[in-house]
Amino acid sequence: MKDEVSVLYSEEQIARRVAQLGEEIARTFAGKEICVLGLMKGSLVFLADLIRKIPLDLTVNLIRVSSHREQAAGRVLTEIVYSTAVPLEGKHVLLVKDIVDTGITLSYLLAHIHEHGPASLRVCALVDKPEARRIDVHPDWAAFPLVEAPADRFLVGYGLDWMERFRGLPFIGTIPSPR
Ligand code: IMP
Ligand code: MG
Repeated sequence: MKDEVSVLYSEEQIARRVAQLGEEIARTFAGKEICVLGLMKGSLVFLADLIRKIPLDLTVNLIRVSSHREQAAGRVLTEIVYSTAVPLEGKHVLLVKDIVDTGITLSYLLAHIHEHGPASLRVCALVDKPEARRIDVHPDWAAFPLVEAPADRFLVGYGLDWMERFRGLPFIGTIPSPR
């Protein structure tokens, strides 16, 4: 399995970035309790590592979205298919997401979460692919902004999947773009 994947970010590089992000996030939210919302399933490995590097009081909940992209009709439907019943009103919310690609999922989530009246809402992504953006949204933090890389590279590992495969790899790698 690993033979199909070229390493882009090693386990050590990921650990260093996650520790840095944890410190930055802790500085931003200093003195506050954070309500962390992890977007399943791609962020699970990142989420597990990141929360252990944020030395603040926090709660963790998981949400899941499904997107049905009807490209031909020029329509994108996104719905939340699972979420823990978590009251977000007045909370300092940190949304943790795997990849911000077109931005469609993130923009939907931001609108949905804002409806619940959080005190603040910030986004931490594992990977940002700004070149692929179709909606103008940006994560507040990204462990790995892929500014130089071709936007069509497909990443797997460290929670990221291709057809549900490769999530368990301890590094982030690329496979020849399947799209
Ligand atoms: P969006 O296009 O920003 O809405 O991202 C939708 C989802 O596509 C992300 O949350 C990822 O789960 C998935 N995705 C986008 N690019 C990649 C990739 O390179 N590898 C694995 N999943 C990806
Ligand atoms: Mg996926």
